[in-house]
Amino acid sequence: MPTVAIYPGSFDPITLGHIDVVKRASRMFDKIVIAVANNLSKQSLFDLAQRLELIRQSIGNLPNIIVESFEGLTVDFAKKHGATVIVRGLRAISDFEYEFQLSQMNKILYPQLETVFVMASLEYTFISSSVIREVARLGGDVSQLVPAPVLVALQTAFRPGRTL
Ligand code: COA
Repeated sequence: MPTVAIYPGSFDPITLGHIDVVKRASRMFDKIVIAVANNLSKQSLFDLAQRLELIRQSIGNLPNIIVESFEGLTVDFAKKHGATVIVRGLRAISDFEYEFQLSQMNKILYPQLETVFVMASLEYTFISSSVIREVARLGGDVSQLVPAPVLVALQTAFRPGRTL
């Protein structure tokens, strides 16, 4: 049986940190479904369609990675795709408590699902999507931290004269 893993998150926007995690995970599992949460309680810079498109453009043609959106519980999305693994990136100790809580809750909801943590590579341990958005909004250079399509999208979103 092929092992299907999901990699859920908001990806607002996807960063090189996320890409590092998903590419490494794609070597461990037969198929990865990047699951983009349509989290209505989280105000996003990029709408769902933009986030999906930016991920697709940034990932390129990796044959065992697909990108889909979801609403509702992550475990239900996992069941729908026959996934037995959730991949999450861990950047620092500060991620641990939240990730521990998520993984325990998901385990209660769907015991067959294992959460597997991939340690972020050192050069990306300090990145988060909100830090990227903040720096880009203030005109800082994030070109080392995001894929090229995301850089263009951020420059467009924060072009002088545009109000957000
Ligand atoms: N590189 C760079 N940044 C990373 C990263 C990495 N490797 N790993 C995590 N991050 C950042 C994200 O960019 C994000 O930054 P931000 O908060 O500054 O925007 C932050 O860490 C949180 O990441 P994310 O994975 O997107 O978490 P989230 O809290 O937005 O989404 C879900 C988490 C979607 C998986 C979770 O809310 C969920 O499962 N929701 C569905 C509903 C559900 O099932 N709820 C019950 C869960 S028990």
